[in-house]
Amino acid sequence: MAPVIRPRRLRSTAAVRRLVAETRLAPSELVLPMFVADGLDEPREISSMPGVVQHTEDSLRRAAAAAVEAGVGGLMLFGVPSPDAKDATGSQADAADGVLNRALSLLRNDLGERTVLMADTCLDEFTDHGHCGVLDARGRVDNDATLDRYVAMSLAQARAGAHMLGPSGMMDGQVGVIRAALDAEGFTDTAILAYTAKYASAFYGPFREAVGSSLQGDRRTYQQDSANRTEALRELSLDLAEGADIVMVKPAMSYLDIVRDVAEIADVPVAAYQISGEYSMITAAAERGWIDRDAAILESLTSIRRAGASIILTYWATEVAGWLSSPAAG
Ligand code: PBG
Repeated sequence: MAPVIRPRRLRSTAAVRRLVAETRLAPSELVLPMFVADGLDEPREISSMPGVVQHTEDSLRRAAAAAVEAGVGGLMLFGVPSPDAKDATGSQADAADGVLNRALSLLRNDLGERTVLMADTCLDEFTDHGHCGVLDARGRVDNDATLDRYVAMSLAQARAGAHMLGPSGMMDGQVGVIRAALDAEGFTDTAILAYTAKYASAFYGPFREAVGSSLQGDRRTYQQDSANRTEALRELSLDLAEGADIVMVKPAMSYLDIVRDVAEIADVPVAAYQISGEYSMITAAAERGWIDRDAAILESLTSIRRAGASIILTYWATEVAGWLSSPAAG
């Protein structure tokens, strides 16, 4: 018997596939993570992330302008202090002349309100031990002492011109204390993009090189266990109650079920972070000729959108925004 119902009909030409596509990508929903380092004369390639660099202030300004020109929705900045400027409390994180705060001021000056300028609000780039917080006498990450550091860092970033802060350290109560401190200082319009469900992941490996991290051990006492799903919903309730404006799941590809869970409940926009290891895996496989790079990039981003994220942080943001804006796209 010949089938009457033929789903293949709607797959038969590129034009009809384009017409019926349920998930579309737009430049405005892509956010570009960027690294700016102290003490460089030239931008420095990150060997485990071919195509991504640690920027100088000059190259950062050029790359940021290019991203905005290509239509990306925002920029997420990470600072890389020189190794001798790191200390136990990450004091460069809240110094007005620290590498990240200087870069925020420059970009806010250059770009004003033409983009959403975001800052990573976390200590791991700035501490000599590489943890996301300060340590107690026994060497454990001290939650509440770390919150004080996040408050100081948040105020420095808001003063430097960040529109949106991204607390990524997974300390309990971080969104609430940051919101209260911003409001008390009059930064009521400075938004919080909460790293709500951030998992302890092997896929962060290349990022550690990107920020020159000296971490010994792991982050399993504060980042979530990849075995757990319910815990992400608990973190979501807390972040929403504490005033998160946007909630994020990270990494993306191994956690698309969590993206979906969060998107079904959250009454704020949901972001997902396609992290360093996801970038590097696709890049490495493509370099070997094992996969089609551009198709794999688009497929990965489409799957993150389809799972329910309306904002995606990706190191390919500028390049993909260019593809999406060209008339041949689709
Ligand atoms: C913490 C932070 C990390 C990433 C973003 N913010 C690293 C970590 O938690 O170990 C990872 C991003 C990536 O891997 O691309 N400041």
